[in-house]
Amino acid sequence: MKFDVTVIGSGPGGYVAAIRCAQLGLKTAIIERYSTLGGTCLNVGCIPSKALLDSSEHYHNATHTFETHGIDVKDVKVNMKQMIQRKNDVVSQTCSGIDFLMKKNKITVFHGHGSFVNKNTISVAKDDGTTETVETDKTIIATGSKPITPAAFNYDKKRVITSTEALNITKVPKRMVVIGAGVIGLELGSVYARLGTEVEVVEFMDRAIASMDKDCSKELTRALKKTGIKFHLGHAVTEVKGTTRGVTVKAKSKKTEEEITLKADYCLIAIGRRAYTDNLGLENVGIDKDDRGRVVVDGHLQTKVPGIYAIGDVIKGAMLAHKAEEEGTLVAEVIAGQQPHIDYNLIPGVVYTWPEVAAVGKTEEQLKEAGVPYKVGKFPMKALGRARASMDTQGMVKMLAHKETDEVLGVHMVGPRVADMIAEAVAVMEFRGSAEDVARMSHAHPTYTEATREAALAATENRAIHI
Ligand code: FAD
Ligand code: NAI
Repeated sequence: MKFDVTVIGSGPGGYVAAIRCAQLGLKTAIIERYSTLGGTCLNVGCIPSKALLDSSEHYHNATHTFETHGIDVKDVKVNMKQMIQRKNDVVSQTCSGIDFLMKKNKITVFHGHGSFVNKNTISVAKDDGTTETVETDKTIIATGSKPITPAAFNYDKKRVITSTEALNITKVPKRMVVIGAGVIGLELGSVYARLGTEVEVVEFMDRAIASMDKDCSKELTRALKKTGIKFHLGHAVTEVKGTTRGVTVKAKSKKTEEEITLKADYCLIAIGRRAYTDNLGLENVGIDKDDRGRVVVDGHLQTKVPGIYAIGDVIKGAMLAHKAEEEGTLVAEVIAGQQPHIDYNLIPGVVYTWPEVAAVGKTEEQLKEAGVPYKVGKFPMKALGRARASMDTQGMVKMLAHKETDEVLGVHMVGPRVADMIAEAVAVMEFRGSAEDVARMSHAHPTYTEATREAALAATENRAIHI
């Protein structure tokens, strides 16, 4: 079988690349080692985690805010098996959507582990032990990532777990230790804290979500502490031991050297992910990897082998589904002879806790370090009528604009539905708009989006109206 383009991996990078290739008239194949398409994102990442975040948020509201809203409910209980079943249903519906899209776009799907035989030949090892061979002109590597699990943490998939197993716990644990106060740690930590688990987070850095703006870390940490999550910041984990019934985690304070011992039902390792290129046969084609095991690509996302490209989590940059999608589109268009472009500064980052965190562009710390003159406008959610109406008063919007030109350089949000609100900031920055542009745009009242306008007003000669 001979194709113009073959994509290895069917995550959001791979399947989007395949669809765009097919749209551009290229005969396209996709190879996926698992039985379902969609990759990490659909099967064990974005979609299932958001499904559990939504379910646990309903439970949390039923037990914490319904009464104040004047809704009396009695004997609210978690049915964990049903919660997981609903999550599984959402996943399988979403994955079958990708099957449909492959058929619609006449993309040939191969199930099995793909590996390079040479530049134009890929072998597909199937579960039944047989092998198929695919001949291809161009190849897109979209093999994604796997959780980092250091040997010293004794990952056993039972008590010492990663996000993959944490999405399938069928009884609410009493206690859980989370290693890493990054995106996974805080999202899945939130799920279990809302369901009643005592969650303790151990983080090496001195603040949670350390790569985001400091104000976002502060606001989110405060909010999560209210949900009951305990933080041990500035602590290095020294030992994780699992038994059949539980785990013991030891960590040392970086400042005082004092050691803490935490006992729990589960220990969730959430310290980042590594590029996945196992048994891909990269050595057969001479493709380089960097010191973190990522496939090395140039500005067109082409490896040093002409005609072989790589996208998504397997290359450098943020490990985000929408970044992978943009790269999938870019490579398809490059192959078709177009001249696409991605502005990596404008890929938004979101944490789906409650309140949510969303950001795009530079943080205040980055602007300071780069010596860029800037001004700041901030507006607290609690000053919004809409936020009071829904009792979602935690958080703020912070806009950073260039001191002289007023161009928006970064927007950082903590609050209700800011994951959706950040799109406005991306659009404004894509068109190189100014804080005054945003301040002069009409924002519907009452909405959470008014906080963005007020932050823009605050950045524009301190003109916020409602504070
Ligand atoms: P992947 O989605 O990892 O897909 C790679 C695919 O390649 C897999 O299906 C794999 O089986 C297949 N594969 C690998 N090797 C081979 C081979 N040799 N042959 C055949 N197939 C192969 N990102 C967001 O933007 N928003 C979120 O809310 C979000 N939530 C997340 C929650 C969790 C718990 C996790 C773990 C991740 C989350 N992410 C989120 C990150 C997101 O899932 C990834 O950035 C995204 O899936 C990367 O896409 P990809 O196409 O590069 O790789
Ligand atoms: P992460 O990089 O977001 O966070 C890892 C955290 O662990 C960091 O704060 C780091 O300082 C800490 N850490 C590292 N080693 C440690 C150690 N030994 N002891 C204590 N702390 C340690 O990685 P995470 O949360 O595992 O997520 C992986 C990837 O998945 C991220 O890159 C993220 O982009 C993506 N993802 C995205 C989501 C979203 O967009 N909402 C949701 C979930 C994951």
